[in-house]
Amino acid sequence: MQSIRLANGTMIPQVGFGTFKIPREDTQRAVEQALELGYRHIDGAAAYLNEKEVGDALRATGMAGKVFVTTKLRNCDQGYDQALRAFEASREHLGLDVVDLYLIHWPCPARDSYVETWRALAHLREQGAVREIGVSNFLVEHLERLVRETGVTPAVDQIEAHPRFWQPEVSAWCQAHGVTVEAYQPLGRGRDIESAPVHAAAEVHGVTCAQVVLRWHVQSGRVAIPKSVHAERMRQNLDLFGFSLTDAEMASISALHDDANRLSSDPRTFESPQDEADMRARIAC
Ligand SMILES: NC(=O)c1ccc[n+]([C@@H]2O[C@H](COP(=O)([O-])OP(=O)(O)OC[C@H]3O[C@@H](n4cnc5c(N)ncnc54)[C@H](OP(=O)(O)O)[C@@H]3O)[C@@H](O)[C@H]2O)c1
Repeated sequence: MQSIRLANGTMIPQVGFGTFKIPREDTQRAVEQALELGYRHIDGAAAYLNEKEVGDALRATGMAGKVFVTTKLRNCDQGYDQALRAFEASREHLGLDVVDLYLIHWPCPARDSYVETWRALAHLREQGAVREIGVSNFLVEHLERLVRETGVTPAVDQIEAHPRFWQPEVSAWCQAHGVTVEAYQPLGRGRDIESAPVHAAAEVHGVTCAQVVLRWHVQSGRVAIPKSVHAERMRQNLDLFGFSLTDAEMASISALHDDANRLSSDPRTFESPQDEADMRARIAC
């Protein structure tokens, strides 16, 4: 597994295992299986309602402290003191002394509290409670304000990215400022696997279309966090390091981008609380 060095020096495995929408009762088993198959990076969030079950898998396998673990602050927990309290709850759920990466899940610009929240995350890093701090769903305007008002640049921006929508503008800003881009929904929720350039590359290299898409993320310098509950897919989503895409293949996949192809919510307007009732409804659909 290839890893990338983050801003504070921590190495992050370039492919992680996503845990959104894995039912609570299935999460421990799915994470244990991912660990057995070789995943060494788990992407979770307080909002996914299965953080404790991720922790159960880490405890049961003896892997706590040995794999890279990310969790995220819910929107309703933004604010300096609330963020510190929410972090303690997450740390307890996960059963970790130190969390590898802690992210602000969404900017929620109408709340206007992401800057003070960011100060709380910077405090956690100074205290040694987290190794790296970052954001998710932040656009250039949000990133610039964070840096301007706090002087602290995120290590990571976790954003929606798949071939038909990979946010070139945010990616360029991140590259220029040393911020690692993590691709969430890297397969476009399984809907952005098929396209002519991806098919062509899959045939040439004798791999699946999903592997081509994930390899395209890796070669673009992004971290990718695909989710699957099927062992064969989990295995193939990790098996990306035995082939390389040519520059022409990379360019033809990147050219699929269109700003109209966003699948997830728009960070300019997404303000949902991510409390239990809100997330139950989202996970059900
Ligand atoms: N920061 C954020 O706001 C945010 C938002 C959304 C997601 N995320 C993170 O990103 C992770 C992944 O996102 P996602 O689950 O929405 O989308 P995704 O990983 O792009 O796609 C998952 C879908 O693709 C299918 N799939 C997985 N591997 C496959 C393969 N090799 N071949 C064919 N189909 C395959 C899965 O089906 P099966 O499970 O049936 O195999 C599932 O339906 C989440 O789990 C979460 O950790 C973060």
